[in-house]
Amino acid sequence: MDEATSNLDAEKESTIYKNLEQFEGIKFIVAHRISTIKNSDSIIFISYGEISSICKYDNLIKYNPKYRELYEEVISVEKIIKIKNLYKSYGKGLIKNEVLKDIDLNINEGEFVSIMGKSGSGKSTLLNIIATIEKPDKGQIVIDGNNIEKLSLKKANDFRREYLGFIFQDFKLIESMNVKENIAVPLLLKNEKPNTINQKIDNILKKLNIEYLKDKNSYEISGGEKQRVACARALIGSPKIILADEPTGALDSNSAENLMNLIKDINKKFNTTVLLVTHDKNVAEYGDRIITIKDGEIEG
Ligand SMILES: Nc1ncnc2c1ncn2[C@@H]1O[C@H](COP(=O)(O)OP(=O)(O)OP(=O)(O)O)[C@@H](O)[C@H]1O
Ligand SMILES: [Mg+2]
Repeated sequence: MDEATSNLDAEKESTIYKNLEQFEGIKFIVAHRISTIKNSDSIIFISYGEISSICKYDNLIKYNPKYRELYEEVISVEKIIKIKNLYKSYGKGLIKNEVLKDIDLNINEGEFVSIMGKSGSGKSTLLNIIATIEKPDKGQIVIDGNNIEKLSLKKANDFRREYLGFIFQDFKLIESMNVKENIAVPLLLKNEKPNTINQKIDNILKKLNIEYLKDKNSYEISGGEKQRVACARALIGSPKIILADEPTGALDSNSAENLMNLIKDINKKFNTTVLLVTHDKNVAEYGDRIITIKDGEIEG
């Protein structure tokens, strides 16, 4: 197949490749998009008429920065998030705490990036800056062409609504609203019709196995349940980018696995970009790439 799916959206493309899995012969696929090559057994790079490298996808993106550079050089991947020279500190003078120092980070469209690092290393700060909740001291953050550190308050709100789904470390549910109302917030902000909203709520509650919580008050549910409600709220608006801060921190291993499979599924099916902070190596492994923050800097 020679660029056979390049004009299709990510969902249609993924259906075609799913069907293709049933065909047991050897498959050669010529492609540009990262989502297309993700499930191949091997990737062959051709550069100026010669094979420059053959590798597995996991080696390429997840574990080997050298292959990654090569990949980015040969293929022009669309970068959805571009962070350059980012600094953030809290406090002043002697008590100044430099939390992020000269962060450079590019994220491809449709990429699933896991962020690890010790407590206090600056992971949530980085996510909150990308989410336009915190302002950096210095640096540029471009998301899909929008220079977000320069946005006015109103524009930042519009931007968040259109692009982002968050799962916060402390859930941030609205206590005066019940579960169903909390989950509906992103859709209400987009002025979706009540029928559509109800249908989407039922779908997402079912996927996360929390239909029984629908009419409960948000202050009367457990930490793990709150976490799943927060996930439902983040996913319901089909955002282009999901920012998740320790989404499995309060879940048992079974629920964590279900949630991670759902996030991975959304990432693959809709080419949704995911940035996920976690302390758990098993959770981080769901990502295409794992980055580590140490003392406010990206390691490696
Ligand atoms: N609003 C704030 N005011 C002052 N200091 C802050 C603020 N937010 C974060 N910090 C400090 O910045 C540093 C990084 O915090 P951050 O929450 O980003 O860490 P983290 O890597 O997410 O940690 P954890 O794994 O515990 O969630 C910490 O030293 C923290 O105390
Ligand atoms: Mg944190």
